[in-house]
Amino acid sequence: MKKFFKFMALALLGLVLVACGKSGESDGSGKTYQVGVAIYQFNDNFMTLYRKELESYFTKLGEETGNKYVLDIQDGKQDQATQTEQINNFIAQGKDVILANLVDPTAAGSIISSAQAADIPVVLINREPEVSEMEIWTGKTAYVGADATQSGTYQGEMIAATDTKGDINGDGTVNYITLFGDPANVDAQQRTAYSVKALTDAGIKNEALAEPYLANWDTAKGQEMTASALEQFGTKLEVVFANNDGMAVGAVTAIESAGRKVGKDILVVGVDAIPDAMELLKNGKLTGTVLNDHYNQSHTAANVAVELMEGKEVQPYYWIDYVKVTKEGDAELKDAEAKTETIKEVKERYAARK
Ligand code: GAL
Repeated sequence: MKKFFKFMALALLGLVLVACGKSGESDGSGKTYQVGVAIYQFNDNFMTLYRKELESYFTKLGEETGNKYVLDIQDGKQDQATQTEQINNFIAQGKDVILANLVDPTAAGSIISSAQAADIPVVLINREPEVSEMEIWTGKTAYVGADATQSGTYQGEMIAATDTKGDINGDGTVNYITLFGDPANVDAQQRTAYSVKALTDAGIKNEALAEPYLANWDTAKGQEMTASALEQFGTKLEVVFANNDGMAVGAVTAIESAGRKVGKDILVVGVDAIPDAMELLKNGKLTGTVLNDHYNQSHTAANVAVELMEGKEVQPYYWIDYVKVTKEGDAELKDAEAKTETIKEVKERYAARK
């Protein structure tokens, strides 16, 4: 009888080892984790790249660890009330972690507080909230993103690095328009300000021909608004700063239909390095873009989420660098380490900006 039990115990041990996958590559837990992911809207080029990469990275993590990460990804449809309901459902269902790309970053505080009451950690992505929101539940909340001032600066620097420095008509001033993403979005605000600041810092005189055009990250709106600016300002318009590639692609379409040529008589820069923009760049129809690294942002967000699900404490801020893109190879995706920052460091850095 004793022998039988010993045999059964050994057989059971064998089963457990098999279930853990290849030895040495597994932490042996083989747990199932429920991950709630709230995306501000599915209908967005960049966030689609991000979402797909997040899914495939979690699958890869599952294969490597023997754990199972069950993703429940919801479309906030650009409506905060809808998204808050989706996040409240995640909380009611007792998800192990929530990843949130908020429609309205000012909702961060109430969302973090509700999640904290249910002891569910939160990773905020893409839309940066106020620092004060990140102080609510330190250790159990993180923001994973990119410093939008950097992307704006790179846009201005790319214009400053062209032969004409943006002053195509040689009148001594760079006349530009800005295609604006979305008023509640830090990325849009900072890209708008820092693209122009980089020109000024390079000693280049510049002037906006109009208030920023609110085009909501959208290609069709970018096209429509650039078309009307071209009609109104004609050859006075020398530079189009688009807060993202979606709108830059629309601008290029409008410019070509107006019979003008990017590079020769007008310059256009975007941000994201989406495939459509990379195609234009390759064909000389876009002056430049900036890689918004969805690959490393999504991997970092997933890694931070895993640490939180394992009960660990995390840093409040994880930053992935933007990359200047003026030719095809510049946008190559490769593993990069995130830079972390404490609340104190972020506060000091932001204070120094003003
Ligand atoms: C930005 C990106 C935009 C848009 C936006 C959504 O970082 O450049 O294309 O996706 O995020 O919040």
